[in-house]
This record gives sequence, structure tokens and C-alpha cells, in this order.
Amino acid sequence: MQLQLQHKIVLTGVKPTGTLHIGNYYGAIKPAIDLGHAVLAQGGQHVMFIADYHAVNYLKDPVQMQECSERIACAYLACGVDPSKTIFYRQSDVPEVFEMTTLLTNFTPKGFMNKAHAYKAAVDKNLAKGEPQDAGINMGLYNYPILMAADILTYGSDYVPVGKDQVQHVEITADIAGAVNACYGQQILKIPQAITSDDTAIIPGTDGRKMSKSYGNVIPLIASAEEIRKAVMGIKTDCQDINAQKNPDEILLYQIARGVCPEAVVMEIKEGLTQGGMGYGTIKKMMAESIVKELAPIYDAYQGYKANYSKVEEMLQEGAKRARALARPVLDSFKAIVLNKSMKGK
Ligand code: ADP
Ligand code: TRP
Repeated sequence: MQLQLQHKIVLTGVKPTGTLHIGNYYGAIKPAIDLGHAVLAQGGQHVMFIADYHAVNYLKDPVQMQECSERIACAYLACGVDPSKTIFYRQSDVPEVFEMTTLLTNFTPKGFMNKAHAYKAAVDKNLAKGEPQDAGINMGLYNYPILMAADILTYGSDYVPVGKDQVQHVEITADIAGAVNACYGQQILKIPQAITSDDTAIIPGTDGRKMSKSYGNVIPLIASAEEIRKAVMGIKTDCQDINAQKNPDEILLYQIARGVCPEAVVMEIKEGLTQGGMGYGTIKKMMAESIVKELAPIYDAYQGYKANYSKVEEMLQEGAKRARALARPVLDSFKAIVLNKSMKGK
């Protein structure tokens, strides 16, 4: 799909997590950063933030929370976010978002939340165990989509690049914005659109299932050359004869290479498999060196940011100031209409 990016606002939120892998990088991080560069080149705005309030439900250990947020901030900077251009901040540093959340609850039918997939999945799990449907479910999980709607609507976002699992949340956001606009008979909140990259294939992990931190089958994104080589050497192979002519599409090594190696390396592997004679060990070495070459600058930059974290913190604080400046007028005009009063000087 050809996006009209001129003067648009593109926003992405990233939940802090412990492990990033190359599936995340090629499937989500790189496409989001590339789209950011594209919108900035078209005179628009790129907004990217660490969704730490969204993580509270999953991460109750404060030290881990801080470490995960730091790690994500350093990783995104190392992957190419330029904080002098992208508005890059931590969700918890922008109080406007939480004020917006409270307002939006009043326009959100409870039924929307009942249908949100994370809540539904938790209910299904309870019912399958024979427990009351809401056992152990708190309002943070239930209201998760409203907080996400506030993240998006407070900045007047046009486009929201997300993984397929998050599309429903952006659709709910659009419905909530529509409900607000319909209630007051005017366009108060901009209706956002989810962007998913259909052409980014799912990258398989070392065991052939989708690469995922939950399966322990990852090639890590932020890793030393040795760690990357070790993970690539662990990719499962079959025991076909080295000289057998193989169908590359059926070979896990090739399926992974297709998603993560440059075209020239992919073609060489394809030919070696099709004609036979290229051993899996050779292919793994080629892949490992190509991945190391691609990721080494990210690893080095990451170490630099980690070692100088106070500078990163300053960048995030500066980003939060810019985010608040973008958020304030949107929130104020919404408040002015809801409360019928001028927000000037507030
Ligand atoms: P994980 O499965 O490791 O828990 P997440 O669910 O946190 O990963 O995914 C974060 C983003 O990374 C998602 O938006 C998804 O699009 C992308 N992603 C995750 N795993 C892969 C993969 N194996 N291939 C391509 N993209 C992926
Ligand atoms: N819920 C998203 C996830 O789990 C993270 C997120 C929070 C987000 N707020 C957002 C993504 C706003 C896009 C826009 O991945």
C-alpha cells in the first residue's frame, strides 16, 4: 500500500521487554524506524515511546522494569532512532496521556473491552480451568486498549505501525475517537489507521517454529559475534546427503536466511541447496558472518548508549517535553469542548 505521508503523524509504542531478537528487528523495529524516516522526510512527525505503563501488569519487579525500559531505549537508539528528529520518550513522563485516558473511558462502551483479545484470552483460560471468568484479571488488563487509545489520540496520530496482534487495539481506538466525534457533532479527535507490513514474513526460530522469546528459539538482536554464531549453529537441520539436490523452501536454514540475510547471500545459499554440494555447516557459517556484519554496528552502538545511560535519560526527558507540547493542544481542545470552558493558560 502506498501511504500518503506528507505532514502526517506516525506513532509507535513499544512495550519494554527483556529479550529482543532478529525476528523483532526485521519484523517490527526496522520497518517502524524506516517508516519514521520516511514521514520525517515528508515534513511529518515521528513519535516513538516506551510503553512502561502498559507493562506494569506484566512486570511488577521495579528493578526489572527499569532495566527493561533502559534496554529498550538503548536498543531503539542503536537501531537508528534519531532523537533529534523522532519524538522519543517514556509514556510515564507524559501526564496528558493519563488525563486523556480518564476522559476516553466515558466514551468507551464496556462491550468493546469485553471483546478485546487479551481480556478474552484471559477469560477463556480461566473458564478452561473451571475458574470464575474474571479470576485474577485486573482493570489494568481490562482497560489496556483505552490506555493505548489515549497514547494514539493524544498526539493526533494518523498512522500506527503495529504487529498483527495489535490491529484490534487500533481499531478500538478509531471506534472510540468516532464515538467522541459523534457525541459532539464535530471532528475533535483524529481517526487513526493501523499499518501492518504484510510483506514482512514471519521469521522462523532455530527450531522451526515462529521465532519468539516465549519459545527460547531466538537469534538475539543485541548480542556479541560469539553469541550470534552460537545461536546460528544451533539452527535445526535434517540429515539429507550433502550432495542431494534440495528444495530450498523446505530447508529451515534457507527460510531464516531469506528473512535476515542480504540478497546476495540468500541467492548463494539457494543455489548451493538447489544444486547440492553445499553443506549445512558451510551455510550456517555464511549466515552467521552475514548476520554478525549487519548487527555488529547495532551491538557497538548499544554498548555505547548503555555505558552512557545518563545521556539517554536526558534524551528521553527532552523527548517527553516535545511530546507534551504536541499533546497539550489536542487534550485542551477536547477538554474545552467537554467542559465548555477555555483551557488557555492552564
Ligand atoms: P515475541 O513473539 O518474541 O514475544 P513480540 O510478540 O513481543 O515477540 O513481538 C513484537 C513485534 O515483533 C511484533 O509486532 C511482531 O510483528 C514482531 N515479531 C515478533 N516475532 C517475529 C518473527 N518471528 N518474525 C517477524 N516478526 C516478528
Ligand atoms: N500494546 C502495544 C504492544 O503490546 C504497545 C503499545 C502501547 C502501542 N501503546 C501503543 C503500540 C500505541 C502502538 C501505539 O505491542
